[in-house]
Amino acid sequence: MKFLFSFIGAVLMLMFCGCEENSRPKLVMVTEATFPPYEYRAGTQIVGIDPEIVGKIAEKLGYDLVIEDMSFDSVITAVQTGKADIAASGITVTDERREKVLFTLPYVIARQVIIVPENSAIQGKKDLKGKRIGVQHGTTGDIFVSQNIQEPERFSNGALAVAALAAGKLDVVVLDGDPARIHVSRRSNLKILNEPLTHEEYAFALGKHNPELHAQFNAALKELQTAGTLDAVRDKYVSKMLEEAGGNASADAGPFGKLKNSIDLNFLKDARYLYLWKGFWTTVEISFFAVLLGVLIGFGIAVIRSTADQTGKLKILNFLCKIYLTVIRGTPVVVQLLIIYFVIFGAVDVSKVLVAVIAFGINSGAYVAEIIRSGIMSIDRGQLEAGRSLGLSYWQSMREIILPQAFKNVLPALGNEFIVLLKETSISGYIAIVDLTKGGDIIRSQTYDAFLPLMAVALIYLAVVMLLSGLLGRLEKRLKRNE
Ligand code: ARG
Repeated sequence: MKFLFSFIGAVLMLMFCGCEENSRPKLVMVTEATFPPYEYRAGTQIVGIDPEIVGKIAEKLGYDLVIEDMSFDSVITAVQTGKADIAASGITVTDERREKVLFTLPYVIARQVIIVPENSAIQGKKDLKGKRIGVQHGTTGDIFVSQNIQEPERFSNGALAVAALAAGKLDVVVLDGDPARIHVSRRSNLKILNEPLTHEEYAFALGKHNPELHAQFNAALKELQTAGTLDAVRDKYVSKMLEEAGGNASADAGPFGKLKNSIDLNFLKDARYLYLWKGFWTTVEISFFAVLLGVLIGFGIAVIRSTADQTGKLKILNFLCKIYLTVIRGTPVVVQLLIIYFVIFGAVDVSKVLVAVIAFGINSGAYVAEIIRSGIMSIDRGQLEAGRSLGLSYWQSMREIILPQAFKNVLPALGNEFIVLLKETSISGYIAIVDLTKGGDIIRSQTYDAFLPLMAVALIYLAVVMLLSGLLGRLEKRLKRNE
């Protein structure tokens, strides 16, 4: 047991303590990277107008740029709470946002536009009422439609909204002008209406606690503007992406040709399979350590609770355990994950994977505790008494007689819990971890293809679960034979 503890401790330290050689200070930029040409993924890199401009400024100020991808509605919170230094995500300056962050000088003039199918009868704002309108959650498009037209359908990113429009699930998408042009250029059945809905300006956002960096940033931005660099960068990406899209229209192929093209597009082009590969390992890593943590917590709690039951001791501990079980089992794991990330570790810089391990471990611990407790209760009380009369202490009888049998009895239920846990980690994307599910999602938002990425992700989970069940089955057999 001791060995196990120190082993886990050592591994955790190696994994999470970011023991880097100290180089230049880091500048952490947050963004939501499905917003071409401002930010998007090329291969596994996040590129675009925002990363390039912020990269140039970071260079000038002597920082190493680190880019993190998260949902757009978390980007402002991240700089507000100090989780990141700068948000660069095609962010429109608004008064509400100004209350939370410091905006730099504007660097782009933008607008919200309406995208409709080629043959749509919708001509402008006046026709929108009552239509199925898609937006990206938390954006100015979302705000405009909610306040001036009706409740929209909110998507986690613009690309998914456009994909839904192209599939006939929406009548309209409201989106920023430049991304709209790029998205539309990649599909043949959509168009953008001429009349824009809003006029806006983009700026970068910094935390209010950071006025010095804000001033330095503004000065550097100003220089880039005077030198004409800002416009040059924007033009470069817009024309590059529009050109790339032109070459995409693939000739009609038979069903096999289509499948092959689809595999090429979803997995091979830009090495997209890497999202699944890396995501898979992240999922495995989170699940593995969370299971360990959950089992440790669960064992401890089960022993405390049954000891309290059988001997009437450990009253206070037992009470605390009950609170833990009630709270953890009474709230959704995704809410727990968000609380642990944004509230408990709000101000500290910890690895997200560690946060996920802690969240899923603590969550699973509650279920494991009850499973093991039911195992302990299933063992006849006489066995404990027999142990005691042989001269063993309570703890010795527990360890030598009760727990081994209990463990064997609950193995199927424990296996079930591990399987649930593995699949539950698929919500890690909520705190911007690229796990298996999120990896598939990223591919989907780049290729606008739902079928293959989702099937691939589902198959990988299925394979892992089958492997796990197989292993547990073997363990069960082994334990039976030892009887
Ligand atoms: N300009 C809009 C806003 O500030 C949308 C920005 C969305 N950006 C993104 N990277 N997804 O609300």
